Formats: sequence, structure tokens, C-alpha cells
Amino acid sequence: MSLADTARKLDALDPIAHCRDEFDLDPDVVYLNGNSLGALPRAVAPRLAEVVGQQWGRRLIRGWGEGWWGAPERLGDRLAPLVGSAPGQVVVGDSTSVNLFKALVAAIRLNPGRPELLVDAATFPTDGYIAASVARLTGVRVRPVPMPEAAAEVNEHTAVLLANHVDFRSGVLHDMGAITEAAHRAGALVVWDLCHSVGALPVELDAHQVDLAVGCTYKFLNGGPGAPAFLYVPQRFQDAFDQPLSGWCGHAEPFAMTPEYTPGAGVTRGRTGTPDILSMLALDAALDVWDKTSIAEVRAKGLRLTDFFLSCVDELLGDRVTVRTPRDTGRGNHVALSVPDAGQVMKELIAREVIGDYRPPDVLRFGFAPLYVRYADALTAVEVIAGVI
Ligand SMILES: Cc1ncc(COP(=O)(O)O)c(C=O)c1O
Repeated sequence: MSLADTARKLDALDPIAHCRDEFDLDPDVVYLNGNSLGALPRAVAPRLAEVVGQQWGRRLIRGWGEGWWGAPERLGDRLAPLVGSAPGQVVVGDSTSVNLFKALVAAIRLNPGRPELLVDAATFPTDGYIAASVARLTGVRVRPVPMPEAAAEVNEHTAVLLANHVDFRSGVLHDMGAITEAAHRAGALVVWDLCHSVGALPVELDAHQVDLAVGCTYKFLNGGPGAPAFLYVPQRFQDAFDQPLSGWCGHAEPFAMTPEYTPGAGVTRGRTGTPDILSMLALDAALDVWDKTSIAEVRAKGLRLTDFFLSCVDELLGDRVTVRTPRDTGRGNHVALSVPDAGQVMKELIAREVIGDYRPPDVLRFGFAPLYVRYADALTAVEVIAGVI
């Protein structure tokens, strides 16, 4: 069967094809960058019009008592099933970088007397930068470790390991269960960065006894540019969770206006300042699509889509590219291809309406968001790449 026939057949049989209707997509664009910024859900614009026109415009400050104040925890509970968390353990707000700062300092305070902070050596830069600053503040030292060796490298000196679930460059999926267990055996805690796995594949934070986790909502959760991030604090750590950004919104009685800080109950103490309500309620609307599918269905399609993309790459590009992403299931939802002059190649692809991204030095990155990317899009992208390189 030709690749075009296979794409048609896979699209016709796709059990979650209906989810694409929930997105406002440009029909001329093949969008393969949902792993950086998800597409626009149709539900967002009318919801924001209501939030701005009615809630803000008419209800004014009364909005805080009519749903805004509790939005960080309410949205956290909406996200919880996507990360395998019981309710009451996820709070939405701030950026991933800010939540990472809170989580790392809190983790070091939860595990005092150990001198090392291990960091994924291939980490997304912000994690490394924040870890270095946290180390300076708390007096621990950072030791970079390649993720495949992380389980073996954690030892009695390790306070915390900062780990990425899916590598932002290669798409490699790391074994959350095995790494967390190894860290616990050595008496260390693990903070997981879920930016490239949340909304792409099942994440089992409670089942793996994860200590703390952070992630963003503008990639596979389609929350929009600058959408708020989230912080996971399991119940067993909530009373002892001592985060450094002790702002008034995490206070037990924020409106008592007392001079001393008393942390709020539960995951609420992960909050800092006034929540960004417009972005938060845009995310609320974006999450409605999850009522029409499940993370298991999304993962199944994500693997099939990337498998199909890789077959097209093999057949149409051959040895003109090097595939950097594993071909087994140990991967997330993006595929990295190495080519010479990758930056220029990506510019030319974008000029031809195939939108992926470039990561130095030589990586073309293509994200497959199963909610709206079709098998036909995967084939079109490879045909256009073949024309460009
Ligand atoms: C793995 C990872 N961590 C952290 C971040 C940065 O998050 P933020 O800009 O929300 O602080 C990103 C952004 O793409 C990322 O991919």
C-alpha cells in the first residue's frame, strides 16, 4: 500500500479524529509544533469573551468570590487525572521556571544534610539555570548526570534529583518508576519536569510515589501562549512543604493581612501571588477537549502517528537525515531528525507552511499532537522535507 493510502486508511480509522474539530486550525498549515505551543481550541475565544465581558466587565471585583480565587486548585483538580494524581495535590499558576524554583528549594528543605543536587545533564536550560541558583542559595552543589545513568548515580550524598520525563531535544522518555524508586532507595527525593509528557502520554505520579513535579500547559494541553504552569505536591509532603516564594496567596488566611506568614492547608501553600485569571480561564476552556477522549487514546495515537512519520522518513528521506528519537515506545510525542544546516532547513519548511522547530546544533524537531494532527499531515511534512533537503 502506498504511503498516501496508508495515511488515508489510518485517518479514517482514527478513534479520536473527532477531537480535531475542537480546534481552530489554518487549513493551509501543517502544524507540528504543538510540543512548543499547542493549537487554539475553539472553546477558548467565547470563554474569554465571557470572562472579560461579563465576569470582569460586569461582576468586577466580585469575580474573586465567584470562582476566580479558587481557580488554581480547581484547575489543578482538572489536571490531576492527566498526571495520575488524586485530587487536592496539584495547583495551577506561575511559570514552570518559578514552580521549579519552589519545588527544588522545598525538596532540599525536605531532605536536609545532603550536599548534592543532581540535574539531568541534557536538561532544558531553564532547569539547569534554576538549579544552579538554588544551589547557591541553599549551599548544595550541582552535579550534572546523564539521565540513563541517573538511577545509578544517586547516592547517600544526594538530596534531590531533578529529572525530565521526556527529553526536550531527542524525545527520549525516561523511566519515572525505576528512577524514582532508585532515588528513594538512596534516600534522595526526585523533582520531575513533565513539560514534554503531560497531555502526551499517561503520567503516574501517585503510583510511582513521585515526590514533587512541575509542568507547563501551553504545549500538549493547548492553554495558549504563557499559559500558567502547575505544581504537584503529594499529600504526604503537604504539611512539611516549605516553599521559598511565601506570598500572600499561599497564606492560611490571606485576607487576615497578618504580618507573619502561616502557610495554607494542603497544596494551596504552593501558591504565591495573585493568579493570572485570564490565562487560567483560557486553560480551563482548553481542557474541555479531554471530556471527549482519554490520555490512553491520545498516547496510542501519538505512538502510531510518530511510527507512521518514521516510516515516511525511512522511505522518502533515507540516509539524508539521522533519526535521533528512539523507535521503540521509549519516546514522547516528538521526533528529532538531524540534518546539516538544520536552522536554514527549518526556515524553508516554515516558508512552505510546515511548522516544526529547530534546536541547535542540528536538530529539526516535529511535535505530533494527537488531538489535531492527522496521519496525512505527517506524510505531507515528509514530502515537503524531501523537497527542501
Ligand atoms: C522541559 C522544559 N522545562 C521548562 C520549560 C520552561 O518553562 P517556562 O517558560 O514555563 O518557565 C520548558 C519550556 O519549553 C521545557 O520544555
